[in-house]
Amino acid sequence: MQEISDKANAVLEEIKAATPANTDELELFRIKYLGSKSVLKDLFGAMGQLPGERKKEYGQLMNTLKASAENKLEELKASFENGKQTAKDIPDLTAPGIDIPLGTRHPLSIVRNRMIEIFSRIGFVVAEGPEIEDDWHNFTALNTPQDHPARDMQDTFFLSEDKNQLLRTHTSSVQIRMMESQKPPLRYIFPGRVYRNETISARAHCTFHQVEGLYIDDNVSFADLKQTMLYFAQEMFGRNTEIRFRPSFFPFTEPSAEMDITCTICNQKGCAVCKHTGWVEIGGCGMVDPAVLENCKLDTKKYSGFAFGMGIERITMLRYQVNDLRLYFENDVRFLKQFTSAV
Ligand code: DAH
Repeated sequence: MQEISDKANAVLEEIKAATPANTDELELFRIKYLGSKSVLKDLFGAMGQLPGERKKEYGQLMNTLKASAENKLEELKASFENGKQTAKDIPDLTAPGIDIPLGTRHPLSIVRNRMIEIFSRIGFVVAEGPEIEDDWHNFTALNTPQDHPARDMQDTFFLSEDKNQLLRTHTSSVQIRMMESQKPPLRYIFPGRVYRNETISARAHCTFHQVEGLYIDDNVSFADLKQTMLYFAQEMFGRNTEIRFRPSFFPFTEPSAEMDITCTICNQKGCAVCKHTGWVEIGGCGMVDPAVLENCKLDTKKYSGFAFGMGIERITMLRYQVNDLRLYFENDVRFLKQFTSAV
């Protein structure tokens, strides 16, 4: 008798001390003490071994046990249902928050946004054109007729047999679209993606980005172009940046120039990026060729203008010293998350 009543008393203590903290734990409690294979069942079973006079005493103990398990179950059930929580359920409000990692802007987006901001401060408005172009907008209207050798400069992805549907090779096509549809004065920049059939390497890619600029009005001069480019270079790369123009050729501008800035990487001391010349190229520019204005039915006696085109990858390379174009398109988070600062 002593042995089994000790056992039963121990279980009673256990029931009293149990602290199921939520409904799941309460269910485990129910199974353990009141389920079909419960601890109590075994203890009840032990009753058979007792002599008659002890049975009553032991039976009372067992009833207490069962009642206390049932009471506890009901009580806790009610308290969980009322939404009352035990200490374990209450979150620690003093604990530090859990960091939610934020994405970062792509370096090309950071630089494109910065370029837009710089040009918009002097009145350039953003416009866009289609990436699938026709021959007229990408070539012919830009003074590059079918047999013009300058077409070879740009390896084109054609989309149709007759070569009249293609992926634009430059954002200069948007110049034509704007001049055809708007009346001067025009002061626009056209940021966008362009495509060329090039073998992918550290220095060339089949898709990249440009920002094109166009300013058409009466009395626009080469001096305006130079000043605009100087302003841009100094805003983008720092007040001490200088620019120089090298005579060049583009079918849609006359005269045409290639634009260099002083190497921001070595401060003109000479490095691999500027090939020890102290200067790096950032784009092409020139005065819009009157033939282009005529193609867009603009009065060449009244209007003149300048245009420029810059590669966003190139500007980004100079700002952040990224020396492999492929990194921009691989989406490696280890690369992308280095560009958190607003430029
Ligand atoms: N479209 C030229 C290219 O992709 C860049 C360019 C040069 C654009 C001179 C211009 C310009 O607007 O005036 O190589």
